[in-house]
Amino acid sequence: MAEGFTLFLLSGMLMCGLLLHTVSRHGASVAERRKKPNFIIILADDIGWGDLDANQHEKKINNTPYLNLMAERGQRLTDFHSPASTCSPSRAAILTGRYGLRNGVTHNFAVGSVAGLPLSEVTLPQLLQKEGYYTAMIGKWHLGHNGPYGPTNRGFDYYLGIPYSNDMGCTDTPGYNWPPCPPCDSSGPQVIRLKRSVHGGCYSKVGLPLIENSSIVQQPLDLWTLTEQYKSCCNQDYTQCKVQYRQPYLLYIALAHMHVPLAPPLPPDDGKVYTASLREMDSLVGAVKSASDDTDKDNTLIWFTGDNGPWEQKCQYAGSVGPFMGKWQTSRGGGSAKRTTWEGGHRVPAVAYWPGRIPANSTSSALLSGMDIFPTLLSLAGVTPPSDRRYDGIDATDILLHGEQTGHEFLFHPNSGAAGRFGDLQSVRSGKHKAFYITGAAEACGGATGRPQLHDPPLIFDLECDESEETPLKTETPEYQAAAQRIARRREKLLWDIATDKSVSAADYSTDASAAPCCEPGQAACRCHTLG
Ligand SMILES: *[C@@H]1O[C@H](CO)[C@@H](O)[C@H](O)[C@H]1NC(C)=O
Ligand SMILES: *[C@@H]1O[C@H](CO)[C@@H](O)[C@H](O)[C@H]1NC(C)=O
Repeated sequence: MAEGFTLFLLSGMLMCGLLLHTVSRHGASVAERRKKPNFIIILADDIGWGDLDANQHEKKINNTPYLNLMAERGQRLTDFHSPASTCSPSRAAILTGRYGLRNGVTHNFAVGSVAGLPLSEVTLPQLLQKEGYYTAMIGKWHLGHNGPYGPTNRGFDYYLGIPYSNDMGCTDTPGYNWPPCPPCDSSGPQVIRLKRSVHGGCYSKVGLPLIENSSIVQQPLDLWTLTEQYKSCCNQDYTQCKVQYRQPYLLYIALAHMHVPLAPPLPPDDGKVYTASLREMDSLVGAVKSASDDTDKDNTLIWFTGDNGPWEQKCQYAGSVGPFMGKWQTSRGGGSAKRTTWEGGHRVPAVAYWPGRIPANSTSSALLSGMDIFPTLLSLAGVTPPSDRRYDGIDATDILLHGEQTGHEFLFHPNSGAAGRFGDLQSVRSGKHKAFYITGAAEACGGATGRPQLHDPPLIFDLECDESEETPLKTETPEYQAAAQRIARRREKLLWDIATDKSVSAADYSTDASAAPCCEPGQAACRCHTLG
């Protein structure tokens, strides 16, 4: 990816926001609004905890120099967890600060999903937008693409990106995937099939669309020039923006990296595709950082993290879980990363960078979650979230800025497909202990899977001395007894809290062929003839 685009985009965004909102929505003076910090959230897809060099410095690898630099000038969060182990639930929880059992999003939306994140949910961009922030999103949304569910109707002033994962549609020049996927049909009648084709699990009938605001601008998009597409779209929109002063902004960048198909700039030899893609991602993050440094350095928080752990079944195209190998599970068959509640499924790299505010070269092992982004950013912006609902994230401001070390006392990891009912909170973290009421595996490289298994009494691991979750504590030990009681009490309390929460939303997961984004329904793969 070209680095120039981000620079351009960022400065363009700053300018465009101003033009659009020169008149304050809430009467706050320009000077007052100017004091509010800018936020850049960068969310990588399927990245592993071990993919960040700084998390494994003993290995002396150098794939993420820009992120390492951000960590050196900011803070690395080593016990940070994605709110779920798959895409849509994780993103929904980040944007609402609530578990999937409350916001309704417990599994992924599909190409033909008619709905998305329930409209009763309030999003982070919505709240910041109301306070005068200019809000833009670049990248993967995956919270519903139809009508009112799209990003520009959920709080973003501007959107450019893909409506769901980059493997959920065909392209003409496929990227690296395992198994490899065929290119789109170039001609022939369009038949929208919502199921993956039987050959290798590829989505082959509806081209992968590129969306700007709420319109398809390219279908199928070109994975290899996705960045160039971003650049030219931004060019058209932003060069006309002429501004005199700034408005605070939220920029949410949901990268296609590191999700398959990978499409790194130079075709490297096969064994290095993942690394090449990781480096490309890192340089993109570096470009965002330097653009931000050049514009409003002291007033911009950049928070980098991931949406869930590596997709192990993709073999050489999957990331690294580092030491979080989920050995209890892998020794019984199956994978222990994405889709599972083993550490590899949800412990993700996280770096927070804010020169002058976040102490340089600091590390925090406070127990944190992607759900904390919501209350933290609102707190930094001086915004109080609506009090008609319950939240699960905590305000991590003191951890980021003031060296406070206490994070969540308890953190629940929802089932994302490997263990029982979607969204169920059957794995619980409390201090160094992690309890499993149910275990399950994802598909491993090579196809091995494992069956969900109930545990009564629960399995409890001590992550401090057993980070690979290999040997559970013996149930008769006082340590086990104390942890089991503490966790059971808290779990009941949370389940009761959710059961009595009047603000719980239900997502509509129904699908219909007519809901698939389709540029020209008469064309093979919905191909846009006039635009593409
Ligand atoms: C998207 O929205 C921006 C800002 O509202 C606007 O300038 C641009 O023209 C829109 N693009 C499309 C394709 O509608
Ligand atoms: C950052 O901290 C690490 C470990 O605490 C130390 O080895 C390193 O030299 C520090 N880097 C800088 C630039 O201060």
